[in-house]
Amino acid sequence: MSQDSQHTPGPRSTDLRTSAEPAAGAAPHGAPHTGPVPPPEPAAEPEAVRRPAGNAESSRANRGWWDRNADEYQREHGDFLGDDRFVWCPEGLDEAEAGLLGEVAGRDVLEIGAGAAQCSRWLAARGARPVALDLSHRQLQHALRIGGGVPLVEADAGALPFRDGSFDLACSAYGALPFVADQVGVMREVHRVLRPGGRWVFSVTHPIRWAFPDEPGPEGLSVAASYFDRTPYVEQDEDGEPVYVEHHRTLGDRVRDVVAGGFRLVDLVEPEWPEWNSQEWGGWSPLRGHLIPGTVVFVCERA
Ligand SMILES: C[S@@+](CC[C@H](N)C(=O)[O-])C[C@H]1O[C@@H](n2cnc3c(N)ncnc32)[C@H](O)[C@@H]1O
Repeated sequence: MSQDSQHTPGPRSTDLRTSAEPAAGAAPHGAPHTGPVPPPEPAAEPEAVRRPAGNAESSRANRGWWDRNADEYQREHGDFLGDDRFVWCPEGLDEAEAGLLGEVAGRDVLEIGAGAAQCSRWLAARGARPVALDLSHRQLQHALRIGGGVPLVEADAGALPFRDGSFDLACSAYGALPFVADQVGVMREVHRVLRPGGRWVFSVTHPIRWAFPDEPGPEGLSVAASYFDRTPYVEQDEDGEPVYVEHHRTLGDRVRDVVAGGFRLVDLVEPEWPEWNSQEWGGWSPLRGHLIPGTVVFVCERA
């Protein structure tokens, strides 16, 4: 994976094979070895480029990427996320303290891009009725592994499989939004499934980070690209097929997306790096976190 990777708080593995998939040259599961095993073919390194990517190819690429990398993501970040903690970002902003969703008890809540549904478990423990939605089957298998009985839905944020007005609240901690081409489409879908007055709170990479290399050290402190370049970050295989896509919006774009989706912006939170947090998560680090924002959380209300 490129040094310039703009990944959201996700894994940074260069090995696109998960532990669930056999290595090239390995015997099928349970089969005896009958002769010398050829050395595994090294997985071709995807090429990182900036180029257009539409909705369908972004969705296809990211579903595959998250399915292949869910195991590593949960292994690497599961402790920080906690099984039933609601953390908005690598800075460690916790919903238990931030209260951005307001009262959750007795509310129907949709979590979008839920991963292993850690946030939904926190919501359920506070008397909410959460539904955890994610594009990745493997991420949802981790949700099942952790347990807790939260309803899980495998679907794309761009086409929510719910009736109009099904939820009081919707939330997303770095889920889905960085990965979809049609941001306003997602906003409209969330608007449709929320009841009037419902809150929609989501965190994404702070747009300013796109101007900097995605590196936790001092090399991540010098501007290297235009903040205004909205061309998606794409990793593609040797045939030019995208295997990972991330979409960039400026801060102004994001405000306009929210408003175009029918929401009122109530707050825009830029979490500061707290003293207690010494962990690095990809390009998020104490060094950079003390100087430039890494996350922005949008707090919106359905008109
Ligand atoms: C960085 S993870 C965040 C997961 C979880 N909120 C957490 O904090 O661990 C991003 C999640 O978004 C999901 N995702 C990506 N694109 C999506 C889409 N179009 N619709 C729904 N989920 C999507 C991925 O499968 C992944 O689980």
